Amino acid sequence: MKVFLTGVSGQLGHDTVAELERRGIAYCGVSSAQLDITDREAVFTALRQYRPDAVIHCAAFTNVDQAEDDEEYCTAVNAYGTRTLAEACRELGAKLLYVSTDYVFSGEKNGPYEVDDPAGPLNVYGRTKFLGEQYVQELLSRYYIVRTSWLIGTRGKNFVKTILRLSEDHDTLRVVHDQFGSPTFTADLAPLLVDMITSDHFGVYHATNEGGCTWADLAEEICRIKERNTRIMPVTSAEYGAKAVRPGNSLLSKHSLDAAGFRRLPDWKTSLKHYLTTLNESAS
Ligand SMILES: NC(=O)c1ccc[n+]([C@@H]2O[C@H](COP(=O)([O-])OP(=O)(O)OC[C@H]3O[C@@H](n4cnc5c(N)ncnc54)[C@H](OP(=O)(O)O)[C@@H]3O)[C@@H](O)[C@H]2O)c1
Repeated sequence: MKVFLTGVSGQLGHDTVAELERRGIAYCGVSSAQLDITDREAVFTALRQYRPDAVIHCAAFTNVDQAEDDEEYCTAVNAYGTRTLAEACRELGAKLLYVSTDYVFSGEKNGPYEVDDPAGPLNVYGRTKFLGEQYVQELLSRYYIVRTSWLIGTRGKNFVKTILRLSEDHDTLRVVHDQFGSPTFTADLAPLLVDMITSDHFGVYHATNEGGCTWADLAEEICRIKERNTRIMPVTSAEYGAKAVRPGNSLLSKHSLDAAGFRRLPDWKTSLKHYLTTLNESAS
């Protein structure tokens, strides 16, 4: 099997490459410098050359607040870039795994979202990722759409790294407490993506670490494990004042994972401890 992978320089792409290597699966991974997915001709050329059996599409415009000011480019990457990849997969008969997001939902549901609950994105990023999903479903039958949330990897910036840095020299940190979701460690998610593409269980899935929390809960747990005395001051999203509106509840149900026989990811607190140990080890 040969796999083509976008977004290798990102958090999830980095760990997915590591997993493909661990399993001895042949792959070609590209960053935006090697292949800009908004360049339609370049995408077709690259895929026709490599002729993959499967494409894992991790690349995206992921800056949710910046997307509000840059809707055109965000749409070009997340929606049209995904459409181009789906068209190339259709031509080559390759499967496509598209990584999507909890932000396709409005957050108004009381309880975890099922895969077939209606979407209702609140921000530009969520709308463009949902458009990407629609193109994949229109163009292909052999696809996996994997909605995940609150990604945390060793590569790049993320919430855990920010709290670790700020808690070094801040007595108090203001953190949002009215958004409830699930942190997801990319080292847990990557093996599941590879399980999927080596199976023929196509469809829409939700995949996050088990359990849920608010951003403030997550910050508290980081400070507790790292024995930092920083006080976490819970604030509302309105008080925090981020540019993009985010869903208040983005818990995702795992029924579709269970039904297809895929294993669920570990509890987020267990994975957070493991992640913090890994960060320590890579720093020393
Ligand atoms: N981060 C989250 O909390 C989160 C939550 C839910 C879902 N997701 C989804 O999960 C996936 C992985 O997220 P992540 O956090 O790993 O992303 P990330 O760390 O921000 O990395 C994004 C990747 O996309 C690439 N990229 C951006 N624009 C591109 C373009 N025009 N052409 C080709 N590549 C381009 C970047 O390449 P360069 O670095 O080379 O520019 C980078 O490798 C994305 O689909 C995202 O929408 C993320």
